[in-house]
Amino acid sequence: MTILVTGGAGFIGSNFVHAWLAAQAEVLVNLDKLTYAGNLRNLHALAGDDRHFFVQGDIGDTTLVSQLLATHQPRAVLHFAAESHVDRSIHGPMDFIQTNVVGTFHLLESVRAYWSGLGGTAQQAFRFLHVSTDEVFGSLAADAPAFSETHAYEPNSPYSASKAASDHLVRAWHHTYGLPVLTTHCSNNYGPYHFPEKLIPLVIHHALAGKPLPIYGDGMQVRDWLYVQDHCKALMRVLQAGRLGETYNIGGWNEKPNIEVVRTLCRLLDELQPRSDGQAYANQITFVKDRAGHDRRYAIDARKIEQELGWRPEESFESGLRKTVQWYLAHSEWVKEVTSGSYRNWIGQNYGS
Ligand code: NAD
Ligand code: DAU
Repeated sequence: MTILVTGGAGFIGSNFVHAWLAAQAEVLVNLDKLTYAGNLRNLHALAGDDRHFFVQGDIGDTTLVSQLLATHQPRAVLHFAAESHVDRSIHGPMDFIQTNVVGTFHLLESVRAYWSGLGGTAQQAFRFLHVSTDEVFGSLAADAPAFSETHAYEPNSPYSASKAASDHLVRAWHHTYGLPVLTTHCSNNYGPYHFPEKLIPLVIHHALAGKPLPIYGDGMQVRDWLYVQDHCKALMRVLQAGRLGETYNIGGWNEKPNIEVVRTLCRLLDELQPRSDGQAYANQITFVKDRAGHDRRYAIDARKIEQELGWRPEESFESGLRKTVQWYLAHSEWVKEVTSGSYRNWIGQNYGS
């Protein structure tokens, strides 16, 4: 048996690849374009494991994808590949439309052709799992109930609009063509291999480098944080037992304002790698210009996946964040590599001097 994963050299995708190969005997074909966010270093530990088959390529390359499907005959496709950073989508939305919308369309068409040609049992057992985000639901008022699966779509950024568009395509390919799809909406992940353009790894990286820790606006925007390995376990459970055509929200029951997340990170760093001058890392906190159209609050109601599929997060925010900081402290070479070159241009573009 084989599965095909798209975007398996990125943050969540590579964590999933590791989790999958640790838990299953199946072959995993990993299709990734290796954009700035994709990194083969994330997969180094799998060198020599002949169950992992990496292919560099674009989800929109229908010739390549059709060939991969025909050759490897996967029983499922898990679709992680995307442009994923909100700030980059504000500076340059085109790549988001190209990969998240057009790319997903081409992928769906390649998969539909493959699935249509499968025999009875293989066709029935096949699954397409689309990995989406809570951001498609827009922003919540402070006292509003958390997002349920039936919450209206109100995407506010070019990124979330492109993910919403891809969700609609996936839904339509199920409704119209019968493609056996599952869609998940997850909240903010954190953990190993997280690219340091996102809040948590950026703050760890900047703190250790003695740079300012940039907080957008008043720092009171709320996100619902989930340790990445918990997300991976949820996806495996949805793939195994999710009902066809259904959507499942995945979250950590863990809402935190950004400033609290950053202060907690600073305290952990004070403990695990104190500054040489004895000062607190929190002294590096700097309030900067807010993100355009910044969503105020996300929160996930994850009761459906718990009640139907028995999934709940295992990691607490405290234990997950401690593991994450320890991982970054132990992987300074990884951080050094991913923050060289074009990363510096991005920091200059987004934060100015
Ligand atoms: P990421 O940016 O770290 O990784 C994306 C990966 O996709 C990279 O390896 C990149 O090279 C690859 N990729 C991009 N365009 C491609 C293309 N056209 N063809 C093939 N590969 C391509 O993203 P992530 O944070 O790991 O997110 C993975 C998925 O999970 C995305 O779909 C994202 O929308 C979703 N998601 C992310 C979070 C989060 O907190 N990071 C939360 C919920 C949902
Ligand atoms: O909610 C799920 C989403 O979470 C995913 O779909 C996205 O792919 C993922 O990138 C993430 O989006 P966010 O915009 O919430 O994550 P980010 O780490 O960029 O920002 C988290 C919060 O921190 C957000 O309110 C913006 C704020 N922030 C971010 C950065 C990079 C800052 O205050 N300063 C910063 O420098």
